[in-house]
Amino acid sequence: MERLISPTASLKGTLRVPGDKSVTHRGLMLGALAQGESTLYYPLKAGDTLSTAQVMRQLGAEISEQGEHFRIKGVGLKLHEPADVLDCGNAGTLIRLVAGILSGQEIFTVLTGDASLRRRPMGRVTTPLRQMGARIEGREGGKLAPLAIRGGGLRGIHYELPVASAQVKSAVLLAGLFAEEDTEVVEPAPTRDHTERVFRHYGLPIELEGPLIRTRRAEPFAAKDLTVPGDFSSAAFFLVAALITPDSDLTLEGVGLNPTRTGLLTVLKEMGADLSWQVSEGQDGEPVGRIRARSSALKGVSVDPRLIPLMVDEVPILAAAAAWAEGETFIPNLEELRVKESDRVAAIAKNLQNLGVPVEVGHDWLKIRGGSVQSGGMVEPFHDHRIAMAFAVCGLPTGVVVKEAEWASISFPSFWEDLERLAGKV
Ligand code: S3P
Repeated sequence: MERLISPTASLKGTLRVPGDKSVTHRGLMLGALAQGESTLYYPLKAGDTLSTAQVMRQLGAEISEQGEHFRIKGVGLKLHEPADVLDCGNAGTLIRLVAGILSGQEIFTVLTGDASLRRRPMGRVTTPLRQMGARIEGREGGKLAPLAIRGGGLRGIHYELPVASAQVKSAVLLAGLFAEEDTEVVEPAPTRDHTERVFRHYGLPIELEGPLIRTRRAEPFAAKDLTVPGDFSSAAFFLVAALITPDSDLTLEGVGLNPTRTGLLTVLKEMGADLSWQVSEGQDGEPVGRIRARSSALKGVSVDPRLIPLMVDEVPILAAAAAWAEGETFIPNLEELRVKESDRVAAIAKNLQNLGVPVEVGHDWLKIRGGSVQSGGMVEPFHDHRIAMAFAVCGLPTGVVVKEAEWASISFPSFWEDLERLAGKV
C-alpha cells in the first residue's frame, strides 16, 4: 500500500505511544512460564508481539485480550510440546529469546519465520545454546532458521558475548533458568537490560557484577501483573518529526526512559535539539516519563560509537534528522545494522539518495551531508517497519510517497493516524 504524505506545516499536541515491544515480548514469555494468572497492562499489540502471543499459546499458555490488556494463564516452567511449527513472523526478538527458553524444555519444537527472519543470523544464539547442551539443528548447520530444537539437560556456561546484543544475552539468560550450575554472560558493551529488570520483577535469580550478568536454575514462580511502558523507539519517530518540522511542539507521554535505550536523546541534544524530558515514575522496574520536542535548527555531529548499542533501533530516524541538519553527520559502529529486519545501512543510504540527500556509505558507517531534502521523493521500506517510518518522517516537511506503508504495523499500527492527527490533517 502506497501512502502520500503531503507537505506538513507543523506538528502540535500530545501523544501516548504504544507499548514497548521488547518489554511486551518478555512479559508474554515470562507470564507463560509463571504459575497462575496475571495481566500484562498496556502491551504492544502489533505484528511482532502478536506472533509472540501466538507462539506462547501453542506452547500451552492461555492468552486472551482484555480490552487494551492481555490476560495470561501461565503453564509453569514445563511448556507443552506444540503440534505444529512455531511461526515467529518478522520478530528477531521472539525467535532468539524463545530459542533460549525451548533449549531448557524436554520437547521438540521447530521455529521459523518470514523471509526476512529466515535470512537473519541465528548462529549467535545456537552456538551458546548448544554449548549449554541443547540439541539444535537448522539450515547451514544451525546458522539460519528454521531451527529444530530438542532441549533439556542444560548446564550453565560462562559466555563472553562476541557481539553487543540484548537478544543473545537474553537467550542465554533464559536458558540459564533451566540449567544446572550458574550461567554467566559478559557483555562487550552495555545493551538494553529489560530481561534483567523483568527477571527481578518476577523474583527470578539475577546478579550483576559490572559487565557480568549471572543467573541460575529457577524455582517455579508465581504469576505477577506487569505494566508495559510506552516504546521509546516509537516515540523517537515523533521526536524527530517535531524537531525537523517548522512551528512544531509535541509532548510524548508515558514513554519508557530506560537509560540503555535513550542514546538518541544524547545525540540529538548534541545536534542542538530543543528537547526536554523528565522521569516521573518507576513502573515495575522501568523508568517512565514524558518528552517534549520543539522545532530546532540542527547541526551535524560525529556520533560516539559507544552510543550505538544504546540506540540500535534509532539509527534510521537519526539519519532522517541528519538529513535536515546543517553540515555533516558521521555515524560509525553500524555493523549490526546490516543484519536487522533489512540491511539498514544500505536501506538508509538508498532512501537518503531517493530524497536527494548526499550520503557516503562504508561497511559499518554512514556520512550524511544534511540540509537539502528534495520534495516529491519516494520512500522504499525494504519490508522494514523502521525504515518506512523513519523516512516518512524525513519527508514530512517536503511531502513524500511511502511504498509498503503497511510495514509500520509490525511495531506501530497507529503510526499513520497519529501522524495525521498531530499534523492537523484529520
Ligand atoms: C531487542 C534487541 C535489539 C533490538 C531489537 C529488540 C530486544 O536487537 O534491535 O529490536 O528486545 O532484546 P539486538 O540485541 O540483536 O541488537
